[in-house]
Amino acid sequence: MAGSRIVSLGHYQPSRLVTNDDLAAIVDTNDEWIRDRVGIVTRRVAETESVADMATAAAGKALAASGLTAADIDMVVVATCSAIDRCPNTAARVAHRLGIAAPAAMDVNTACSGFSYALATADHAIRAGASRNAIVIGSEKLSDVTDWTDRSTCVLFGDAAGAAVLTATADGEEPGIGPVVWGSAPERGDVLKIEGWRPYIQQEGQAVFRWATTALAPLALQACERAGVAPTDIAAFVPHQANTRIIDGIVKRLNIPNAVIAKDIVESGNTSAASVPLALSKLVERREVPSGAPVLLFGFGGGLTYAGQVVRCP
Ligand code: UT7
Repeated sequence: MAGSRIVSLGHYQPSRLVTNDDLAAIVDTNDEWIRDRVGIVTRRVAETESVADMATAAAGKALAASGLTAADIDMVVVATCSAIDRCPNTAARVAHRLGIAAPAAMDVNTACSGFSYALATADHAIRAGASRNAIVIGSEKLSDVTDWTDRSTCVLFGDAAGAAVLTATADGEEPGIGPVVWGSAPERGDVLKIEGWRPYIQQEGQAVFRWATTALAPLALQACERAGVAPTDIAAFVPHQANTRIIDGIVKRLNIPNAVIAKDIVESGNTSAASVPLALSKLVERREVPSGAPVLLFGFGGGLTYAGQVVRCP
């Protein structure tokens, strides 16, 4: 069975930059608290763009960089937990706007682990022969589901999209997307929710923090093991961007001394399902990871869900 690989990446962020001082003008917070406790300095907040607009922009860039055309794409998967427009789903909206005819089109909602879930879903479809070239996107407009009067959450999030074009590997070629390690702790789902009408993000921050810093490192190591890659060979680690202290806590337990550690949260905040492809796309754009090098992706969050895999850098 053929595997798949990432051919190209793209990302999109709205132009409106919101600083910590901007937020201190609307809720009782300050720059020092946000930098120290979370690591965020700025985030982008969409004004007119929808989840589908941002997804289309990111996917369009990834497609343009791939050497493929819309006619080659037969599957679009969008990871999002913030799309207000439900039907047509975001994937179909993106496909229509990019001129992709008749693709399998689906949205995946596993909150912040969504991109790794969506990537695995597309990879599995390619392995099964149900797709040959796919676009996988993480896109979030969290500003739509943020309570802007709640300082414990409104300082954390940002809006963005990131996308990857996948293609089937040639006969004999090493797969570029390793086996996924995915799962959830559904009995603990209440600690991070977006529910009710209108839906707002609510979380027990410390409970999520403890789970993330204790449960996830062994699972990320499992993703390396299943891919047959030694942690010391990992060239970059791109975890979900929720908190620099969480990232540091996980990194300490991974033994990945040669990895570039993605910390896009500093400039982009927590963009849920968009955070992993956004950070990866920026690392590649800045040429911080050589083509072909193994990169460990690991998403986690609402649900509580997690998913990760080792991919070869395009
Ligand atoms: O992406 C999905 C997954 N989500 C995560 O991984 C989030 C995980 N959790 C976290 O990253 C952290 O728990 C937070 C960043 C959400 C919060 O940091 P914390 O160090 O756990 O703070 P805390 O909630 O324990 O609050 C400490 C203090 C409280 O004041 P008192 O009770 O000690 O007087 C809060 O009221 O900080 C206060 N506080 C704030 N102060 C200034 C809470 N939010 C703010 C704020 N500005 N924005």
